Amino acid sequence: MVSIEFDNGVAWVTLNRPDKRNAMNPTLNARMLEVLDELEVDDRCQVLVLTGAGDSFSAGMDLKEYFRETEAKGHMATRRAQRDSYGWWRRLRWFEKPSIAMVNGWCFGGAFSPLFACDLAVAADEAQFGLSEINWGIIPGGNVTKVVADLMSQREAMYYILTGETFDGRKAAEMKLVNFSVPRAELRARVRAIADNLLEKNPHTLKAAKDAFKRVVEMPFDAAEDYLVVRQESLNFLDKSEGRKQGIKQFIDDKTYRPGLGAYKRG
Ligand code: COA
Repeated sequence: MVSIEFDNGVAWVTLNRPDKRNAMNPTLNARMLEVLDELEVDDRCQVLVLTGAGDSFSAGMDLKEYFRETEAKGHMATRRAQRDSYGWWRRLRWFEKPSIAMVNGWCFGGAFSPLFACDLAVAADEAQFGLSEINWGIIPGGNVTKVVADLMSQREAMYYILTGETFDGRKAAEMKLVNFSVPRAELRARVRAIADNLLEKNPHTLKAAKDAFKRVVEMPFDAAEDYLVVRQESLNFLDKSEGRKQGIKQFIDDKTYRPGLGAYKRG
């Protein structure tokens, strides 16, 4: 269902049902909750990359197992399936370490949820995205409508919600649904380079920075300003390496790096 490969600080997490285009069924969703719990406390994972096996990132929710079979079991079975799927996307959104969605191929419907949950996203030029819900008679639920409202312009979101047309990785990058797209042959190397950049940074600061951004997006201005002061002060307490003092010292006293051009060296 899910495979994990550790490689120099990066955990490559692969949704692994290629015969079903990595559609998310209840078993996969429950497993992803466990995987995130495990990786959060695993030092081999400093950056998480989420991708899909074969030619698909994920074909969205499993129409047979997530919808039809679960609905047949009744209301509570549906709620439980929703808890697990929404649950792992929420866990990923607030994951302790930075995350990158590596969109290698098909990305439909419900797959926009883990795409959004990841802090960064890189797509293959050749990847195909679509809000296909309209094509089979439902609205983009499971937070997908909210996700596209947050990430895309209103005209573009509404266009793809209503038409169900597909778009490729280049278009996704143009719309800022992903950070950028590259030819599929270069995708993994490009994601690895971003991960290597993140690995140089203070991990406490990375977590505080991503949370701060995600929180302030939904806050009024003054509350955000206050929250950012408090969040930095909490970081000062949590970061026992006192990174910010090191950062100042290595620039001002030691003159060993320039903060404008790269990260300070961590002990
Ligand atoms: N739910 C359940 N099964 C799915 C699925 C999904 N979302 N997406 C693919 N599958 C299954 C197919 O039923 C098929 O199963 P089978 O081999 O037992 O017949 C298998 O995966 C391969 O799918 P197929 O359609 O033959 O692959 P393809 O490469 O020709 O097309 C897609 C790929 C992604 C374009 C196509 O599978 C598709 O449209 N999937 C649904 C996408 C969608 O609407 N998702 C939104 C859900 S919210």
